[in-house]
Amino acid sequence: MRYLITGGAGFIGSHVTEALLARGDSVAVLDDFSTGRRSNLAAVASHAKLRVVEGSVVDGALVRSMVAEADHVVHLAAAVGVRKIMSERVSGIRTNVEGSETVLAACAAHGRPLFFASTSEVYGKNAKVPFSEDDDSVLGASSLHRWSYACAKLLDEFLALAWFHESRLPVTVARFFNVTGPRQCPDYGMVLPRFCHAALAGSALEVHGTGNQSRCFLHVDDCVRAVLALVDTPVAVGQVVNIGSDEEVSIRGLAERVIALSNSGSTIHAVPYAAAFPEGGFEDMLRRVPDTRRLSRLTGWKREIDLDQTIRDALRWAREDNAAAAR
Ligand SMILES: NC(=O)c1ccc[n+]([C@@H]2O[C@H](COP(=O)([O-])OP(=O)(O)OC[C@H]3O[C@@H](n4cnc5c(N)ncnc54)[C@H](O)[C@@H]3O)[C@@H](O)[C@H]2O)c1
Repeated sequence: MRYLITGGAGFIGSHVTEALLARGDSVAVLDDFSTGRRSNLAAVASHAKLRVVEGSVVDGALVRSMVAEADHVVHLAAAVGVRKIMSERVSGIRTNVEGSETVLAACAAHGRPLFFASTSEVYGKNAKVPFSEDDDSVLGASSLHRWSYACAKLLDEFLALAWFHESRLPVTVARFFNVTGPRQCPDYGMVLPRFCHAALAGSALEVHGTGNQSRCFLHVDDCVRAVLALVDTPVAVGQVVNIGSDEEVSIRGLAERVIALSNSGSTIHAVPYAAAFPEGGFEDMLRRVPDTRRLSRLTGWKREIDLDQTIRDALRWAREDNAAAAR
């Protein structure tokens, strides 16, 4: 099978690319390297079945030609990360709305099955625990720019499901909940890589707000197994499916575990949101827990890796990343 992976040089995309190549598929990667790295694909760079194209998902002609040459499309390219969303406002919305629209339209035109990566952010401020796929989206005001990411991904979901209903586009929408692990970059506000790099440097781990807000972190290997399982499950077409871990931890608790597992002498420093995001426009949710029964029912998927192992793997990668940067 020939796959097109948009965002295939990114954190999740590079792991999906490796997994598909390992099972004998061909992969074409389309990536603009805005947050992705060539080094993420270093282990497979000379693989005969890998082709990497530098370009953007907003380039309609390029997207249409690459979709035409693929049997299946996995759309992961997006402007991601709180820091990036807050600092590159217009281009972030453009990538996440126009880019997705371009990929969806090309898949509909060529009748190609599509896996679309959405996010737990679409549940917004809904206080329900855990989140099931048909729960409400409760988003904040448009003056608070952080909501633009959730709003763009939600619009993409509507568009994907509209193409499915009107044109039978075989699309599966997956909502990722805090996927983390090796190759996740600390530069765009992702919390675990930020903590790992700080702990290894012996500097303070900055917890935003009280640190009592909690999240469920899923190891990228478990995420990739879920992605491939959904790609291989035709009855998932036309559905929205959560992908996430059931192991909940407060952000302060995460910082404590990173310090303990790295034997670091670092301390934890609480930073008010107003100081962490002086440009304003930020608000946070207290809890975000996925209900993954639909994913399990459709594919038999179960989480295999616990949080401590996820932290150990993230620390190992942070050490390797530091060593590579020092060379
Ligand atoms: N990591 C998570 O916890 C998480 C949670 C929810 C949703 N997601 C979604 O998963 C997908 C992958 O995210 P990730 O965590 O691997 O982040 P990432 O930043 O590592 O990956 C995004 C990739 O898309 C590429 N890209 C960005 N704009 C592009 C454009 N215009 N054209 C082509 N390529 C472009 C980047 O260079 C990068 O390689 C995204 O769609 C994201 O919204 C991730």
